[in-house]
Amino acid sequence: MTAQYQVQGSVAVITLDNPPVNGLGHATRLGITDALQRANADPAVQAIVLTGAGKAFSGGADIREFGTPKALAEPNLLSVILAIENSAKPVVAAVHSVCMGGGLELSLGCHYRIAAPGCSVALPEVKLGLIPGAGGTQRLPRALGVEPALNMIVSGEPVKSELLAQIPGQKLFDKMAASADSLAAEALAFAQEVAAVRPLPLVRNLPCKHPQGDAYFQFARNMVKGMSKNYPAPLKCVDAVESATRKKFEDGMLFEREIFINLMWTPECRALRHVFVADRAASKIPDVPDTTPKREIGSIAVIGAGTMGGGISMNFLNAGIPVKMLEMKQEALDRGLATIRKNYEAQVKKGKLKQDKYEQRMSLLSTTLNYDDLKDADMVIEAVFEEMGVKEKVFKELDRVMKPGAILATNTSTLDVDQIASFTGRPQDVIGTHFFSPANVMKLLEVVRGKHTAKDVLATVMALGKKIKKTSVVSGVCDGFIGNRMIEQYSRQAGFLLVEGCTPAQVDKAVEKFGFAMGPFRMGDLAGNDIGWAIRKRRYTEKPDLKYSKTADLLCEMGRYGQKTGAGWYDYVPGKRDAIPSAIVVDMIDKHRAALGVTPRKISDEEIVQRLVYSLVNEAAHILEEGIASKASDIDMVYLTGYGFPIYRGGPMLYADQVGLFNVVQSMNRFAQNPLDDAAFWKPAPLLARLVAEGKTFN
Ligand code: NAI
Repeated sequence: MTAQYQVQGSVAVITLDNPPVNGLGHATRLGITDALQRANADPAVQAIVLTGAGKAFSGGADIREFGTPKALAEPNLLSVILAIENSAKPVVAAVHSVCMGGGLELSLGCHYRIAAPGCSVALPEVKLGLIPGAGGTQRLPRALGVEPALNMIVSGEPVKSELLAQIPGQKLFDKMAASADSLAAEALAFAQEVAAVRPLPLVRNLPCKHPQGDAYFQFARNMVKGMSKNYPAPLKCVDAVESATRKKFEDGMLFEREIFINLMWTPECRALRHVFVADRAASKIPDVPDTTPKREIGSIAVIGAGTMGGGISMNFLNAGIPVKMLEMKQEALDRGLATIRKNYEAQVKKGKLKQDKYEQRMSLLSTTLNYDDLKDADMVIEAVFEEMGVKEKVFKELDRVMKPGAILATNTSTLDVDQIASFTGRPQDVIGTHFFSPANVMKLLEVVRGKHTAKDVLATVMALGKKIKKTSVVSGVCDGFIGNRMIEQYSRQAGFLLVEGCTPAQVDKAVEKFGFAMGPFRMGDLAGNDIGWAIRKRRYTEKPDLKYSKTADLLCEMGRYGQKTGAGWYDYVPGKRDAIPSAIVVDMIDKHRAALGVTPRKISDEEIVQRLVYSLVNEAAHILEEGIASKASDIDMVYLTGYGFPIYRGGPMLYADQVGLFNVVQSMNRFAQNPLDDAAFWKPAPLLARLVAEGKTFN
């Protein structure tokens, strides 16, 4: 049973009990309606308290039921709320900790609400591309006032109960409890107090007006439109709340329902719901259950205080974990330390970090030139030059000094983690932690599981990723892991497009219109074009038959590495980051094309986007088939959090599913006919071909 029933004196207490957040799954909903009937049938009961066990009143819908018939099975949430409103005896919601989504809607159906301070209250449906669907848009404006309600509904952000209780004229909370601890007793007393009051008050009967409705909603629409370009739901929130002020309650409810159902089928809503589930699924590893024991990580050592070492260290300092950085020379340590300081000081200047917090973080940081000083660290992360010889020396040293059971991690982006592990006598303790630059900002962490990585090491690093607020995705060992292995194909396509007739700006614009944060060439300029150059040089010997456009090499030969050299695919004005289309680069591409005897053709934005995105999809299908990624949604998370793929499209795999894999393969077959492209690459990956044949999708 996921709702408990208890009678205390003349009050029946219904306690939602469906960990972790008392999600309103089918069994819980049934539990509530059964308990209501019991309470109403019991002559000894005069009033009812509805509350939640553990760490929440209720977090809303039970995400485990998403997309299953149970989510809609009767009694659905609307019916439960109606049953509460129709109860002959008053129902008092006693809310605490978390009261969100359906949980808040449920409480709004109760006759009274008493809240503990510190309770997070929200209608977060907009974050899933929806509007509240169980009366939230109709009842909250009545209880709280139109403007504060609309703010909450459009933003989806939680607000603390004590702040809401201060809103003049609010009827959301009839009473604030003194503390979370006294809530239960105060709710019982309050229920007894109001037991005999009739008629029973209902939020639906409260008036709902805005004195300057026309002007206010016009203003709200303008604001929301500007902020929610690619998402339909926020504007629909305005429509729904406006209807609460203009329509009868029942008509407003029907209007809300209609909007809710229409939004449910939009690609944006499907994408956002997918991301919500994919994000949680990423931490689930098929053969490493949640119960796997974890190692204690109370301190970290970082080898190399360069670009990555500094950023990596900041993550742990921010989480209150002490860090010791090691370098070979004092100057390098000083430089690394100064960069960390500069980053924090910029945050202090912007008001994003308090001075005392900054000092507290810096006090957790120490440095050394001596490996022996690292012996007590629970985990070490290596971020030295990307050369196997250097890594070998470092890992041999680490193997010598680190205490038994310490986790040895490498931040390598291209080297073989298994080979690195083989330099130690404890390959089971070695793992890859591939951070993205800037490491203190980017959400993505690829956790690279070596052939010998122990399960508890993997579980520990995944938990640590959560602690430092990263989206951690497990990748197997292969060149480039998940993200960079895919981006290599994408970059290759971008190069072919130049030879065939595009300019860098045209390609970037098409991809940015699709929704990417940045097109491939602006991204190259930001990351440094020399990085790709180094990788290609290696490829030319490893895979001499692999086809590349030479444009990027020619660019690097001109010394145009990107923003860091003041010129790349674009020109830059010193001190600024604006990418200015470059006549020199266009001329270089034209000449190269002419030398190859290629007549440029006009290429549509649609073709540009398809070739770039489907190149990701086909490579990803290989990655899945090889078991480098364990599920398609992990690949989506990598692209959403590490590569600027538009969230409202849900990642490359969901996007391909939504386009239809059959259509994706048809396009790929067409690209394979293009003599300037790489026909061999466009042969559909076996997994992709199989899914099409079986009429299935990735997700
Ligand atoms: P970097 O050149 O900025 O920093 C490397 C630092 O390691 C330097 O400060 C150097 O003095 C130090 N170092 C070199 N050998 C050492 C040794 N034997 N002992 C101690 N310190 C030593 O390089 P960056 O960009 O920070 O890269 C570090 C690692 O992170 C590389 O493996 C790289 O592939 C990887 N990586 C880099 C990314 C990036 O965008 N820069 C992204 C993801 C991974």
